[in-house]
Amino acid sequence: MRILGIETSCDETAAAVVEDGQRLLSNVIASSVDLHAAYGGVVPEIAARSHLESILPVINEALSQAKTNWDDIDAIAVTQGPGLIGSLLIGVLTARTLAITKNKPLYAVNHVKAHVYATFITKGMADYHFPAHPPDFPLLALIVSGGHSSLVLFESHSRYKLLGQTADDAVGEAFDKVAKMLGLPYPGGPAIAQAAKKGDSTSVKLPIAQMSGYDFSFSGLKTAVLRAAQALAGKDYTFASSGLPEALTSAQKADLAASFQATALKTLVDRLEKACRQYQPASVAIVGGVAANSELRRLAEAALPSVIYPDVKLCTDNAAMIAAAAFFGRSTNTPVDPYGLSVEPGLSL
Ligand code: KG4
Ligand code: ZN
Repeated sequence: MRILGIETSCDETAAAVVEDGQRLLSNVIASSVDLHAAYGGVVPEIAARSHLESILPVINEALSQAKTNWDDIDAIAVTQGPGLIGSLLIGVLTARTLAITKNKPLYAVNHVKAHVYATFITKGMADYHFPAHPPDFPLLALIVSGGHSSLVLFESHSRYKLLGQTADDAVGEAFDKVAKMLGLPYPGGPAIAQAAKKGDSTSVKLPIAQMSGYDFSFSGLKTAVLRAAQALAGKDYTFASSGLPEALTSAQKADLAASFQATALKTLVDRLEKACRQYQPASVAIVGGVAANSELRRLAEAALPSVIYPDVKLCTDNAAMIAAAAFFGRSTNTPVDPYGLSVEPGLSL
């Protein structure tokens, strides 16, 4: 069964064709990230306009790369939420129109849950590093992205339990905000990871939030980085963060980036390890944009040798995970009415 996935929840316009939820036939992503870089974060209006321009060329490219025409597409899957309302609307309205005009079943997919399905894609395109085999249940998944930090235990495709989530900022959001503070480009994750390579991760002492159960909190860590940066620059707490990029040396920025990254990642790996001990899952996966971080992979592998991740290109937002999620969700998620599907910007797990 070939599913065309469509994803437009944030700043990536993406389409992909996946066969039987596991074979990647194409994965096309047009990002508007460069247009947002000047603002230090995603501007919803710019993202929505950019989706509108890119969506049809991206879908056509996904079909062409997969050497597939509409006759060979069995269904369409689209991100219904969570995400930016204007961005979601472009994907959902396009998917609805195509489902009607091409007469295909339409599946609505939860973006956060879909990140986990990137690990079910285990074969296909040549330049990807796929997991050796798909995860087994029970599956413990750490979903870490710009919008979410959640620890979820999947008993099956349809039964899962949210063990913990962030009380404030998502971990990717903390990477983005700390990067902005240090004058590093958006998105902050890759920029912090790069800067951290030249820094000493033990040089700045930062707190790990003590939360109950498996919850996370990253906003205190972000403020602690701000205070440490002000102190390193010889300023007090009233000094504006916008002045820090000028006031700090490259070495100080590298030390702050390395110390922040080490603390944020230790928080994630400690929670994951604790949940593993309690629930003894058959598989453990780390997914979402932050799962692209090589230091996170190194720390996680040291603690949990069998941990699996999607290819880096399937960690950040993509439509292949949307197609895979729709395929494996078919037993409980039946096709939706293409005339009635609405977007759900605040959709939860
Ligand atoms: O999954 P994703 O593309 O979008 C959301 O669903 O939010 O995740 C984007 C987030 C951004 O916050 C970005 O800074 C972070 O993932 N990210 C990283 C890395 N690459 C992307 N964070 C840490 N290290 C990275 N290498
Ligand atoms: Zn995402």
